[in-house]
Amino acid sequence: MSRTILVTGGGTGIGRAVVRHFAHQGDTVFLTGRRLAPLTATADETGAKPLVCDHTDPSHLAALLAALPGRIDVLINNAGGNTDIGADQEPDGLDATAALTAYATRFRANLDANLVSAALTTYAVADRLAGGGAVVHIGSIAADQGAGSYGAAKAGLAAWNLDLAGELGARDITANVVSPGYIADTEFFRDVLTAERREQLVAATAVGRAGVPDDVAGAVAFLCSPAARHITGQVLNVNGGSHMTR
Ligand SMILES: NC(=O)c1ccc[n+]([C@@H]2O[C@H](COP(=O)([O-])OP(=O)(O)OC[C@H]3O[C@@H](n4cnc5c(N)ncnc54)[C@H](OP(=O)(O)O)[C@@H]3O)[C@@H](O)[C@H]2O)c1
Repeated sequence: MSRTILVTGGGTGIGRAVVRHFAHQGDTVFLTGRRLAPLTATADETGAKPLVCDHTDPSHLAALLAALPGRIDVLINNAGGNTDIGADQEPDGLDATAALTAYATRFRANLDANLVSAALTTYAVADRLAGGGAVVHIGSIAADQGAGSYGAAKAGLAAWNLDLAGELGARDITANVVSPGYIADTEFFRDVLTAERREQLVAATAVGRAGVPDDVAGAVAFLCSPAARHITGQVLNVNGGSHMTR
């Protein structure tokens, strides 16, 4: 049966691979992002429906609701990224208040981009989520290994999901986190990933290769499939063994 899927940040990288997966299996897919160009490129390729939306902005989410159907089977909270990457260096010589304000602004940017965005989007569409459906958030290995406010935001996302899974479980909706390690072929690192750092990230895996967006899409697809109906409130790590758990 065809389902209705919402993929946030679906124009590039991991989100685009998730859009491709669901569109290929015949689902009706809505994809969002702030830039129109990547959205229309992915939509033209897949037949999915592009909607411009900044998921940190309540007014954008209100407008998104008006464009979405009344029933959503699957929500993929993928939009996000490390807002410290490529951010301007804070200037020296700030007084204490200015320095603390600059620090707070940078810290909150990662919380907004990765945690508030997912919570706000889920809150916005919660009433429309259908029984038998699924919510998947894209977390990060940074939640376990650190990366400043980005890791804190992704750890918070996994913690917040625990209550969400409890609430949605009563309606036969699952809620899980897929937590990737280093995934190549995305815009995540902008242009700041050096060859040396990339080699380090690959060397840290057990399988000796970088992940690709389809590796993550495969895990997302599983959690949204009939085979995963008894899995909820979990974190599924997709990192080639660079962070192992018992
Ligand atoms: N690549 C990795 O190694 C890696 C590892 C662990 C976790 N992740 C996570 O995987 C997810 C997908 O990232 P990616 O690696 O595929 O990188 P990406 O290519 O940069 O994708 C992120 C997407 O999210 C969109 N986006 C970001 N902020 C948004 C906002 N406020 N509202 C709407 N859309 C927004 C971006 O589009 P616009 O800029 O046009 O809005 C972009 O399409 C992120 O949550 C990231 O933290 C990535």
